Amino acid sequence: MPDQSKNKNRLAFVTGAAGALGAATARAFLAQGHRVVLADSNAAALDALATELGTNAFPLAFDVSDEAQVKAACDATRQHWGSVDILVNNAGILSNNKIAETTPEEWRRILAVNLDGPFLLCRQWVPAMRERRWGRIINMCSVAMKTGGLTAGTAYTTSKGALGAFTFSLARELAPFGVTANGVAPAYVRTKMVTEQLSEEQRQQTLRGIPVGRFSEPEEVAHAVAFLASELAGFITGEILDINGGLHLD
Ligand SMILES: NC(=O)c1ccc[n+]([C@@H]2O[C@H](COP(=O)([O-])OP(=O)(O)OC[C@H]3O[C@@H](n4cnc5c(N)ncnc54)[C@H](O)[C@@H]3O)[C@@H](O)[C@H]2O)c1
Repeated sequence: MPDQSKNKNRLAFVTGAAGALGAATARAFLAQGHRVVLADSNAAALDALATELGTNAFPLAFDVSDEAQVKAACDATRQHWGSVDILVNNAGILSNNKIAETTPEEWRRILAVNLDGPFLLCRQWVPAMRERRWGRIINMCSVAMKTGGLTAGTAYTTSKGALGAFTFSLARELAPFGVTANGVAPAYVRTKMVTEQLSEEQRQQTLRGIPVGRFSEPEEVAHAVAFLASELAGFITGEILDINGGLHLD
């Protein structure tokens, strides 16, 4: 039986922490008694959040797509608190451009942030998780990977599909070592990605397609992430958990 007393004081590393889903996830972990590294490229937003969250939150401003910056941030984490138990690859950028409008630069930037970032961070943290025979990796995928992208563009949809395959690869490799790798696939959370990047017409049409009849709240996604990170979720690996109000059923 998993020891549930270990369900606190873990060290979580959350990328995109200054954004809507990342901040909600950091708050969920802190409420459970974990410590959280807040990772984000937006230094100003990060500082404001860290001040609000207190000493169990440690802010690190860097770009997840830059190998040298990732290494420096992980070294700073090791010095401050040691090795990470829970890695949440949440930083991501969206584009709604379909194939003909997607420039090669945009394609490369979206894949660099949404896919290279998780890869670089896993390279840093997986060895220690394996060694300690405990770890949780949660990748922020998207309903777009299953639907082909309803409003989301080609590069974004591809990046999230690849992130799902990356999750499966990690899950298969790491299962014998007590390390699970899962994803969550949210659809249309009430964040800037939805409120600012969709037209009013797209919003109304999208809402009509969601059987639950509303957009998701960031806290609902954070709850699913915290569940997958918990002690009793150790038998779940290689799962991509839908959080989509019934928009897509599989
Ligand atoms: N909002 C939704 O409806 C929705 C749906 C499905 C999936 N997602 C995914 O959830 C994740 C979070 O989305 P959100 O809605 O909270 O977005 P958000 O824009 O509020 O937050 C994203 C955060 O990532 C940070 N970031 C961007 N590029 C970075 C980089 N190179 N290095 C470090 N940090 C970087 C940003 O500064 C921002 O704080 C993303 O991966 C997104 O694709 C969101």
